[in-house]
Parts: sequence; structure tokens; C-alpha cells
Amino acid sequence: MRSHYCTQIDENDIGTEVTLCGWANSYRDHGGVIFIDLRDKSGLVQLVCDPVDSKEAHKVANEIRDEFVLIAKGKVRARGEGLENKNLKTGKIEVVVENLTVESKSEPLPFVINDPKVGEETRLKYRYLDLRKASSYETFRLRSKATIAARNILDANGFLEVETPILTKSTPEGARDYLVPSRVHGGEFYALPQSPQLFKQLLMVGGFDRYFQIAKCFRDEDLRADRQPEFTQIDLEMSFAGQEDVIKVSEDMLKAVFSACGISINIPFNRIPYHEAMEKYGSDKPDLRYDLAMVDVIDIFARCENEIFSNIAKNSHINRIKALKVPNGDNIFSKRQMKGFEDYVRKFGASGLGYFQLKEDGLKGPLAKFFSDADLEEIIKATDLKVGDVVFFGAGEKKLVLDYMGRFRIYLAELMEIIPDDVFEFVWVMDFPMFEVEDGRVKALHHPFTMPKDLDKENVEDIESIAYDIVLNGVELGGGSVRIHKPDIQEAVFKLLGISDEEAEEKFGFLVEALKYGAPPHAGLAFGLDRLMMLITKRSSIRDVIAFPKTQSAQCLLTQAPSPVANDQLRELSIRVRENKKA
Ligand code: AMO
Repeated sequence: MRSHYCTQIDENDIGTEVTLCGWANSYRDHGGVIFIDLRDKSGLVQLVCDPVDSKEAHKVANEIRDEFVLIAKGKVRARGEGLENKNLKTGKIEVVVENLTVESKSEPLPFVINDPKVGEETRLKYRYLDLRKASSYETFRLRSKATIAARNILDANGFLEVETPILTKSTPEGARDYLVPSRVHGGEFYALPQSPQLFKQLLMVGGFDRYFQIAKCFRDEDLRADRQPEFTQIDLEMSFAGQEDVIKVSEDMLKAVFSACGISINIPFNRIPYHEAMEKYGSDKPDLRYDLAMVDVIDIFARCENEIFSNIAKNSHINRIKALKVPNGDNIFSKRQMKGFEDYVRKFGASGLGYFQLKEDGLKGPLAKFFSDADLEEIIKATDLKVGDVVFFGAGEKKLVLDYMGRFRIYLAELMEIIPDDVFEFVWVMDFPMFEVEDGRVKALHHPFTMPKDLDKENVEDIESIAYDIVLNGVELGGGSVRIHKPDIQEAVFKLLGISDEEAEEKFGFLVEALKYGAPPHAGLAFGLDRLMMLITKRSSIRDVIAFPKTQSAQCLLTQAPSPVANDQLRELSIRVRENKKA
């Protein structure tokens, strides 16, 4: 219908006849001449409806309200002297309308598009209106460019794009499944895939060699700013390949994706072993845009005269005493803030938070009296303190201390506003443990199909795996591993996880069987596309980069899903609902 997009015309088109289509962004009547800002995906251009040029068009323009859908035909002309709009790409010209059609009227909108005060609930209910704002279009333009760039580079590297089933069997990625009842097999259920993990491994057994998919995944888990129940992965798998091959392909792919979004990044990325990340940053997804690394001071505390600390220090294999230095902290934080910090870490299970300040005349603080002068010197040395610095201490059970000190590190960085927002700091976190023990139960840290380095360890938590995560600015962007391709190792891992032979057979029998028919060594990785776009577009919520996202309570405010269904439909599915919480 159109000859140009609104912002495609400029001074070179003066005198040209154009047809433009779009929405009335705004209109003004100036002494009988009506000005309309016409908007399409490209931006705005000014239409002029003057009865002198076209009585008809002026008459139609008189009826126009915000967000009416218009088709305008007219001639491009230069704006008059002093009437140019420097803020607009098309600010030097305007279109004198000869013919104007209203294709659709619009009722007054429930909110003003682009108004930052409008709450997210309203914006999600009318998501199609929220999507009209220029920043939304730009976000999804970049998302499209990124996806196409990923496809192109993977295609160029010999990867085959294959779709795997959505109606399937549970894949253990650690979350609850979304279930879909079967009508034909009453009382039986499909699970929506938490990831294409098992199918991509079967594609390797099928000889496809290199697979990728822009895959929808579904996980019924507690939602956060970077989690949705339904999200997209860039999922890939390679045969006769190991960790280094996957890392190389992934780095090349990320470089291409960022470049498609106009951002240049340097590869290869830094790497850090899992244990080092935990000990230094208290997190397996450390944000390395700033330092604030923790230092171990348990040996020094072992010699102090405070029994609480010296007792903790005695059990250095299960406990930690960590020091976190804040340069110049003594001058930055008030006494009240220092007290508040203790309240902050207590929320995460800490029993307290010790600190020292290095003053001109030495190390000061409530704990100083318990240490010899020599040990105070040791603390200064270990943490490399300068006058004016503050150092905080967390002491207790290892997991707890690393967790709350890791959170405290982020809290301090945000408070001090030391996190640069124009930096992309990638890091590979390597050598994950294979298992973790939670409430006495052994769980796979990645998933049970990850290749362990050596299963022969007394303590399961000491077994390492060939698994790696890619972390960007403190967000886990992707994760992957070398897979088990030998049935005996797979069965041994199931055993360690406490999965009985029957359960293993019932849940993953098809995989173990496939491994018996010549499975190549294989490895892979999956990126969270939504998280990637959230970081590229610098959004604070994953919902901003998903066209029709769900709320924190997994609802779609636009369609009102989930919703009750008719009894007939339930009967057909052999389902009886015990309780309808909404009703
Ligand atoms: P994993 O479970 O680590 O690995 O998922 C890979 C990446 O997917 C993203 N992600 C999510 N994004 C949004 N909302 C969620 N609820 C969500 N959950 C995960 C993250 C994460 O890093 N099959 C393995 C991959 C493999 O081993 O190849 C898997 O799914 O960015």
C-alpha cells in the first residue's frame, strides 16, 4: 500500500508524490491547518492537511484522533524557515496531503504509549499497544537480527537445524514439568520439554553430527527477573567434539550475534574454575565488571582469642572465614550503614558480620582486641589494606558463608554504584562438580547426562564433571557439557543419583538403549536467548524482550491464561478437577 516508510523520505524527495501508511501519533489544528505526526515502525513524519491543498483531505483530517490508522497520499515539501524539527529524522520536510483515508478508528487508549509511569500490569494487558513504542520495536528488531545471525553462523559451521518434539516425556533439568493430558490415552500425560537435551543427544546417535535449534523450553519454577516459564534457547550439540570445540563455536556465535546488534566483543573469553569462582566471588555466575574479590583468612582467625572464630577456624574443611575488602570504605559508609550491612547478611542466614577499618594508627574494629599485633599485620597483608579501607568478615559453614558474602558483594557494588553499565564481561565457569548434596539427596549440578571426570571418589561432591557455563555480567547466559556416551557410565551416574533401575528404565530407558547402538562422543551447550537479549538491550527484566511474556505468577494478562476449561473438555481428557482455586 505504501511507497515509502515514514522516515525513508528526506530533502532529496522534495516534490515527490508519496503514499504513507501508519498511525496518527498526534494531531494539532493550527488556525485551520491540521498537522498530523504519522508513525510507522520506522518513526515519524509530519503530514499537513490544508484546505487550500485538498478540501477532502482536510475534512477527513478533522475527524482524526490519536492512533487512527491512516493512508496518506501527498507531496513532499521542505518545511518553512524556522519550522524545522531537529529532534526528528524527517524534521526538515513534511508531506502535503492530497488524499487521506482512515483505515481504522481507535477508541481513546487505556494508557499513553511511552508514558514511563504506566504500570507493567496495564502494559501487559494491552501488550499490543505497549509494543507500538519505538523502543519495543528496536528490541525485537535486535532480537530478530541476533537470531538470524546465530542461525547463519551455525549453518556456515555445518550445523543442521532440527525441530524436536514439544509433546514429549519429562527431561530432567531440575524444574517441575508442565503436563499436557492425552485425550486418546486417558489418564496419561505428555510433558512439555524443559530442554531438547535428550533429543539432541539422540540426533548425535542418529549421525547428524552437528545440530542446533532455536528451541522453546518450558519450566514450572519460581520466576525471577531473568526467568520465564516459557523461554527460548539457542541449543546446539556436536559429535566427535569436546569442550574446546563447543567453546570455540559458542564464542564465534556470540561474536556474530553481538556484531549483528552493533556491538563488538573480544574473544576468547576468560575462564575461571568453579571452585575459584565460589571461593572468590561466592557465586558460580560471578559479575566480573568489578573486583571486590574475597580472600581466605581462616588461618589467621584460627590464632585469635575469640572462641567463636577460632572454633569455626578449626574445621577448615567444612567452614570458611572470608574477608571482603572495600577500598576507601571507611570514608564511604556511615556507622548506620555498617550496622545495616549486618542486617542484610542476616537475612541470608549469617549470624553476624565482623569488620575492621584501617586507620592511620592501625587496624580498628570490634574484633581487633582478639588478635595479636602480628596477626593484625597479617590481615592487612592478606587483604592488601590501605588507610581508609574497610574489610568485612563472614565466618561459618562454607556454603552459607560463600552464599551470603557473594550476595553482600553484589549488594555493596550496587550500593556504591561501581558497576559499569557499558561493559560486557564474559567468563566461562569451568569444571563444575558433578553432584551436589541437598538435604541428604544427591542431585546432578547440571544434568545426569553430563560426563563425570572420575567417578571413583569417596565423597560424591568431589566428583568433577566436564561441564561449563558461560556467564555475562553476573547472569548465567548458557550452560553445557561433554555428555556421557557409554551406557555403563550413564547407569553408574543414575545409581549415584539414587535413581533405581526401574525408574531409570521407565524414564530414560530409550536413551540408555540408544547409547548401546554406537553413540559418538558428543558435547553441546544451550544459551538462553531471552537472557542474551535482555543483556544486549540492557533491560532489567526478561519480560521486556519477550513479545508476549508471562507475569511473575506465570499468567498471561492479555489472554488470561491459564484459565478454567469446560467440564466437557475435562471429561474428554479423563480429568476431574478437585478444586478450582480461582472460582
Ligand atoms: P540449562 O538448564 O543451564 O541447560 O539452560 C540453559 C540456559 O537457558 C536459560 N534458562 C532460562 N531462561 C529463561 N527462563 C528460564 N526459566 C530459564 N531456565 C534456563 C539460561 C540457561 O543458562 N540442556 C541443557 C543445556 C546443555 O547441557 O546443552 C540446559 O537446558 O540462560
